[in-house]
Amino acid sequence: MAEADKPALSVVTCTAPVNIAVVKYWGKRDEELILPINSSLSITLHQDQLKTTTTAAISRDFKEDRLWLNGQEDDIGHPRLQSCLREVRRLARKRRSANGSGGDDGSSRGDPPPLSLAYRVHIASENNFPTAAGLASSAAGYACLVYTLAKLYGVEGELSEVARQGSGSACRSMFGGFVQWVMGQQADGKDSIALQVAPETHWPELRVLILVVSAEKKPVGSTAGMQTSVKTSLLLKHRAEAVVPERMAQMIQHVQQCNFEGFAELTMKDSNQFHATCLDTFPPIFYLNDTSKQVIALVHRLNAHYGKTKVAYTFDAGPNPVLFTTEDTMDELVEVVRRSFPPENNGGQFLKGLPAKAASLSEELVSAVVRDPMPGAIRYLLLTKPGPGPLLVEDASCHLLGADGLPRSSSS
Ligand code: DP6
Repeated sequence: MAEADKPALSVVTCTAPVNIAVVKYWGKRDEELILPINSSLSITLHQDQLKTTTTAAISRDFKEDRLWLNGQEDDIGHPRLQSCLREVRRLARKRRSANGSGGDDGSSRGDPPPLSLAYRVHIASENNFPTAAGLASSAAGYACLVYTLAKLYGVEGELSEVARQGSGSACRSMFGGFVQWVMGQQADGKDSIALQVAPETHWPELRVLILVVSAEKKPVGSTAGMQTSVKTSLLLKHRAEAVVPERMAQMIQHVQQCNFEGFAELTMKDSNQFHATCLDTFPPIFYLNDTSKQVIALVHRLNAHYGKTKVAYTFDAGPNPVLFTTEDTMDELVEVVRRSFPPENNGGQFLKGLPAKAASLSEELVSAVVRDPMPGAIRYLLLTKPGPGPLLVEDASCHLLGADGLPRSSSS
């Protein structure tokens, strides 16, 4: 095909979700391929509340690969981003040569001709939540990048392995619902992939309440933190070898049976053990702050009051508690949290995301559970539930890049 007849621009926009681990990933056996020392399991959160949107475009007119994050131009040379880009292009080349389309251009079967793999790419990405809120933005970001590039280059099949090379936890954001990341054994990482345990429709009563306690940047990033833990923590070694394999099997069973008590207890224990490995790291790493600890105590008081585990907490590499409960307890839980951490900013919305109904708490519950309220310690709550994996956005008005390949909202 003559160069001039080729389409000038190809644009794709997709969205991808955040996930929260209930059996934690902490520690790599291969830093470059991002291969973990243990398997992990997470819940994909609904994109109506938390998502990354990414537009990727290729054009013969682009002079260089470029990247914009939340409207600002950023460095596209980051090694992990380059790994993802290289892998998707490699898969595209493989697919095109298998289709007999000559690798780089032209089509063999009447499909519109794919744009040349040698063309430069422009990528724009943004989150519908504050990046600094500690809500695992790298998982959604890399999952979205890989999914969008794959659509753009016409690549299908196993993509979690590519997303994993952006950020370990990103491989789990390639599916909706309940997802395990199987650690694998091979040195090339081909068997270190994400698999869906159950779809997002599997446990409709499950709810997730995120308590945003601080927008400060976390003290030690997870990549650096887990490196030091692998080097220094004997507890982490024990956890990876002897604890997690059994917990994975138990957690999968609890999820399959929608057994909330089993799920909740194991989730709390696994979060606690992850933070214990951080304390066992030398020098130690502290992700939980006073507010986090108050929330842990509150959840245990609440469960003791109910005489049953109705609420669970988990914390990643930051102080924000993520609580799990079921629909029937949700309204009461929101009210308990509001009473324990009265909002200071009355103008701002305290509960975001899914709505909760006003709940009146019994005096018994208040006196047993609500102690020493900490006004202003929690900035806001975000109520959500399990949701789907990455999605293609068909509506062209949602593209983050214009016909000129530059961010729509920016003049650069
Ligand atoms: C505590 O996936 O952010 O959230 O692979 O180095 O990018 P890298 O780390 P990352 O680590 C996530 C750690 C965690 C637990 C989890 O999500 O399983």
